[in-house]
Amino acid sequence: MTNNRELNIVVEEAKNYLCFLAETGCTGFECLKKSLDTIDKWGKKEVLLKETLETIRIDLGDCRRCKLSNSRKNIVFGAGSPSARLVFVGEGPGFEEDKTGKPFVGAAGKLLTKIIQAIKLTREQVYICNIIKCRPPGNRNPELDEIKACFPFLERQIVALKPDFICTLGLFATQTLLETKEPISKLRGHFRDYKGIKLLPTYHPAYLLRNPDKKRDVWEDMKKLMNEMGE
Ligand code: URA
Repeated sequence: MTNNRELNIVVEEAKNYLCFLAETGCTGFECLKKSLDTIDKWGKKEVLLKETLETIRIDLGDCRRCKLSNSRKNIVFGAGSPSARLVFVGEGPGFEEDKTGKPFVGAAGKLLTKIIQAIKLTREQVYICNIIKCRPPGNRNPELDEIKACFPFLERQIVALKPDFICTLGLFATQTLLETKEPISKLRGHFRDYKGIKLLPTYHPAYLLRNPDKKRDVWEDMKKLMNEMGE
């Protein structure tokens, strides 16, 4: 079913039929008030539009929406708590992530784990995902058509997660979510709004591995994040 209007019609008809059966005293199935209230809610827009990470993953399927699907080993959907207050968004899977299907498990991932621990959280308490879900060959930068194909799934994941905070890691995640071309050096450390969610850009852990002197800046950003989160 692709069209919400069609779905609404089917739900409305099913609802009417079930109410009709209930009114005629049907005892073939349970018609408690609680059940009828649940059926009544089926027709409401916000219930119809509610997605979970599982349904989004099912919709993604064995994705062939962009050319990265030709070379990837595994789709890296995301990992962590579905009720996370904080979501980290990186760029895209690297070699280890492609091999395992899990985000941030390579060298940059180990540093991200330390950053998460430094703000007194665990990987299991946050949610970790990327702008694109398949590894670009040779870890090249994601291309525009790849981001365009993949980003709607991240948008839906964020809606399903409803986090209070997003921390974007590096240029691609930050520029994509904020729809800006400003450099990461200007954006980092300043809270911005993403659809009512507080978004804090910081440097990517892979950049920190190459530029360890920038760890100090990231620590400053993480202190701001902890403070804002009340952690
Ligand atoms: N770099 C990213 O941006 N994401 C990963 O999952 C791993 C490395």
